[in-house]
Amino acid sequence: MYGVYVHVPWCRTRCPYCAFVIDTRRRPADESWRDRVLLDWERERSHFVGRPSTLSFGGGTPSRADPTALAAVARAVDATGEVSLEANPEDVNLEALREWRNLGVTRLSLGVQTFQPRIAPRLGRAHSSRQSLTALALTQAAGFASTSVDLIFGLSEQRPEDLAADLQVVLDHGVPHVALYGLSIEPGTRYEADKREPVDEDRWRALHDAAVETLEAGGLQRYEVSNFARTGHRSLHNEHYWRGRRWAGLGPGAHGWRPSGIRVANTTDVEAWLAGRQAEEEQPSPEALFFELVWSTLRHVDGVDVERVGAVTGISASVPVEYERAGLVRWRGGFLVLEPAGFVLVDGIATGIASASTKNRHGRGAV
Ligand SMILES: C[S@@+](CC[C@H](N)C(=O)[O-])C[C@H]1O[C@@H](n2cnc3c(N)ncnc32)[C@H](O)[C@@H]1O
Ligand code: SF4
Repeated sequence: MYGVYVHVPWCRTRCPYCAFVIDTRRRPADESWRDRVLLDWERERSHFVGRPSTLSFGGGTPSRADPTALAAVARAVDATGEVSLEANPEDVNLEALREWRNLGVTRLSLGVQTFQPRIAPRLGRAHSSRQSLTALALTQAAGFASTSVDLIFGLSEQRPEDLAADLQVVLDHGVPHVALYGLSIEPGTRYEADKREPVDEDRWRALHDAAVETLEAGGLQRYEVSNFARTGHRSLHNEHYWRGRRWAGLGPGAHGWRPSGIRVANTTDVEAWLAGRQAEEEQPSPEALFFELVWSTLRHVDGVDVERVGAVTGISASVPVEYERAGLVRWRGGFLVLEPAGFVLVDGIATGIASASTKNRHGRGAV
């Protein structure tokens, strides 16, 4: 079982907090993008067996791309299951929704961030709060098998009641999946240049805890650090990453992990990628692979399959006892899972396990 991720770099402008691989040209180069993605797919498909189970158009802003170009890629990839697409509210209208459905999209993920008119302008987005509400109503009525809303928290201007109101909108509309991201100040962004700070740790924690409680009380279970879903509405594509499975990455800046264990990374230079620059291929070291597998699978409620990680990397996991004593992790069968208190500390816990375990290496295993 594997997935295919396709990166669509087009954005109207760069949001002041975003460091993703994007391109803000006035007219997206849809045909060149499509042809180049199809070449990436020709290269990658020979390394995988059978059809992928999921296809994910992420960005950048896939909703800014010509649906005909997206359709050509969807036809070529020919996934057996979920086809997801990230859409920004300003691109959502009845015709666009119909085109995305016709090309096979089953799951639409709406990049709202906030519905609050007081906060939205601070995020420098290309859409208003009103457009977000309209887009949400249209999306919910469009008949996708699943929908999701992305929200952000941790801006210094954001009061607890602002985030509570955002969550209420989502719950009132019956949205079955929410991705809730804590704002991080990324190198190279305008927020960093402006020396903006996210809220202090106590307020961050209060916003976070209240949001988790509201979403869970509303029937959306936390199944990954930042993701909440009703039964049957998890992101099946993202679960490939969080369960340590393989995937192909197509498009500028996209990464993949082949069944052979080779990691593939396309260049982040959109122009160079369009001009055909070759992807970099690398066999990761056992230590790097161990950290990545622990870091990515610990984030998910099903946790780390320690035996499998050992078989793949040749490194047996050593979990510092203080993590269990402090109530951050626990064992469930052969799986190491996070306790609620561990979710906010996942990066530190994964780093701690990796450093304790790589001291205890017992040789290499087959990948
Ligand atoms: C890279 S965007 C792509 C989808 C779409 N363009 C959008 O903006 O929603 C995916 C998600 O990452 C979030 N994101 C980007 N930069 C972030 C940051 N510095 N901190 C937290 N979330 C961030 C966005 O807000 C969005 O929800
Ligand atoms: S629209 Fe999304 S991908 Fe584009 S700059 Fe903003 S956050 Fe980044």
